[in-house]
Order: sequence, then C-alpha cells, then structure tokens
Amino acid sequence: MIELDGVTKYFFPGTVNEVKALDNINFKAQDGDFITIIGSNGAGKSTFLKAISGVISVDSGSIKLEGLDMTGFPEHKRAQQIGRIDQDPMASTAGEMTIKENLAMAYMRGKKRRLSHAVNKKRTENFAEVLKDLGLGLESRLEVPVETLSGGQRQAMALLMATIARPKLLLLDEHTAALDPKAARLVMKITRRLVESHGLTTLMITHNMEQALKYGNRLIMMHRGKIILDIGAEEKKDLTVSDLIDKFTATSGSAFDDDRVLLA
Ligand SMILES: Nc1ncnc2c1ncn2[C@@H]1O[C@H](COP(=O)(O)OP(=O)(O)O)[C@@H](O)[C@H]1O
Ligand SMILES: [Mg+2]
Repeated sequence: MIELDGVTKYFFPGTVNEVKALDNINFKAQDGDFITIIGSNGAGKSTFLKAISGVISVDSGSIKLEGLDMTGFPEHKRAQQIGRIDQDPMASTAGEMTIKENLAMAYMRGKKRRLSHAVNKKRTENFAEVLKDLGLGLESRLEVPVETLSGGQRQAMALLMATIARPKLLLLDEHTAALDPKAARLVMKITRRLVESHGLTTLMITHNMEQALKYGNRLIMMHRGKIILDIGAEEKKDLTVSDLIDKFTATSGSAFDDDRVLLA
C-alpha cells in the first residue's frame, strides 16, 4: 500500500542548526492497516506524515503508494489519494464557507470540474446523509458557515472532508490534541467509524499513549528521526502505557521526556 525506502530529511543542512528529522526510514503498511504513531516531541512524527503527503520534499529515499513512485510528486498531485488532518480545526476547514461548500470542495478535490457543478441537488442529499451519520445534527445546517461550529464539530467535518473523496490513505496528525476531552472522544469515535466503514489505510499520530494502544492494529514509536519500535496487533493487545514507556527507555536508551505524552 504505502512504502518508504531509506527516506531521509534534513532541515537546515550544512549549518550549525542542521536537524536530521527523518533518518533512513524504512516503512511499509498493508492495505487497511490502522497504525498509531507515538514518540517524544521533535521525534520526526509530523515530518514523517508530511513527507508522505508531499507537504515537504525529502533529501533521499523513495515513497511509493500502491507501487507508484511518488517521491517527486508535489502535494496537489497526491491530494486525491491522500486525506490528511492536523490538530488545528481552523486549518482543516474553511471557516467562512458553508458546510455544504466545504463538503463540495472536498468532494471535488483532485477532480477537474467546477465547484458549482458539485453542489447539485443529488449531491446535497448525499451530503445530508453523510452528515447525519456523524450524529451531530449538522445535516439540517448545510447553509451555515463552518466558523459557527465548535472545534469538535469542525474536526468531525474535517474527517468527512478528508474521506469523502475515498482516498487510499488517511493521515492524522494529533487531530484531537486541541479539543477538550469530550470532543476528543467524539472525534475519535467518528474516526474509528469512518476508518472501519471505508477500510481506510490510516496513519494516526497521537500524544496520548492510551489512544495509541486502544486504536488500530499496529503501533510505531519514533525517536530522533527513526522508527524504534513497531508493534503488531497481537502484542499490542496486552500492552499497557507503562509497558510502552519501559520499551521506549530500553530501545532508545533515554527517558521519555515529553510531558504532554506522559500526562495525557
Ligand atoms: N519546517 C521546519 N523547519 C526546520 N526544522 C523543522 C521543521 N519542521 C520540523 N523541524 C525539526 O525537525 C524535527 C522533527 O520535527 P517534527 O517532525 O515536527 O517532530 P514531532 O512531530 O515528532 O514532534 C524537530 O527537531 C523540528 O524542530
Ligand atoms: Mg508533530
């Protein structure tokens, strides 16, 4: 499905500020995998997902999606295949646009037709249906600007938008981190439902180790630009948060130093 071979990324190469954000990453995910990603602050998690979505270019190595080498592809050429959301509800939806317009825009992503064609009657009914499945009552508010929604509702919308064009891959970068606990739980519930109903291959970064253990069929841990742990479904089932921290310490040779993670 997705395959990275020897992917390396430097920031500020050749200067005193040089950072090796990705250090010879080799990674493969199978179709339908739901993989959670944890690691301390600055481990390279966001850079990993940005390399896959094409938000940043890499210095060496290759990135393939279903066998197609897309290492040199710009972000917009990957956007139809890859849905992504980060933690900012403001960034993942267009606030001044209505719910209907946001969904139409997402639906048309990567398709070469004009926006107006997308918002015909049939499609509006279809939008109402998918919104209804969220269980937030948004289906009766299609003409309302998205900026009037709560952060949780916006992230739920962002999830719909990221999946409505049926991407091959869904990339979530701490998409519940900015939400209050109740909204975060709701958004995770919706995440799981969408991922499972579409059988979407998903990579989800979280700073919450319990979340990382609870969701998905595989867990990877990053440290200093490398994947230092890769835990499959069987082993993951019986792990606790404290097991994970012990494993981190044993593998990395250092203490887990991200308070956000430890306190989550
Ligand atoms: N756009 C950028 N410019 C310069 N350095 C960056 C940039 N993005 C990330 N970095 C650096 O790369 C390293 C990995 O960052 P990041 O992938 O954001 O880590 P994580 O998401 O695991 O916290 C960090 O040292 C960070 O400071
Ligand atoms: Mg990050």
